[in-house]
Amino acid sequence: MSTVPLIVNGHAVTVDVDPSTPLLYILRNNLDMMSPRFGCGLGQCGACTVIVEGEAIRSCITPVSAVEGFQITTLEGLGTADTPHPIVQAWIDHQAAQCGYCQSGMIMSVKALLDQNPKATETEIREALVGNLCRCGAHLRVIKAALQYAQEARA
Ligand code: FES
Ligand code: FES
Repeated sequence: MSTVPLIVNGHAVTVDVDPSTPLLYILRNNLDMMSPRFGCGLGQCGACTVIVEGEAIRSCITPVSAVEGFQITTLEGLGTADTPHPIVQAWIDHQAAQCGYCQSGMIMSVKALLDQNPKATETEIREALVGNLCRCGAHLRVIKAALQYAQEARA
């Protein structure tokens, strides 16, 4: 066990864990962040996506020791239910979620892209989402929501 310092949604926290534990488990089991989901556990579905130092990463295959001291953002860090972040509002406007299981990962992938490149094209948005799978088939609504947010981000 080791004490690992993290910065999650702007808050400094420490966890006393095996440093090889996947970040996903720490977020969910130690820090009560339920937005990143366990889908495949193999880095292949995107359900566990969070933003670390501006990059969308798969938290299921990222040891917590690899993000020690880094800025980690989960969906919980984007606004509140009463005052949703514009990207979340775009998802609501387009009713993008069906079961919702994949959606946090989708939002984080799109946000990371548009934070880095507010001028990202629809093609680039689609490419950023290529690793985010949705078994409900909500992709078309997700793309519409992402494009709305992209337009707002550019403005
Ligand atoms: S649970 Fe991490 S990519 Fe599938
Ligand atoms: S909305 Fe159900 S898996 Fe994507």
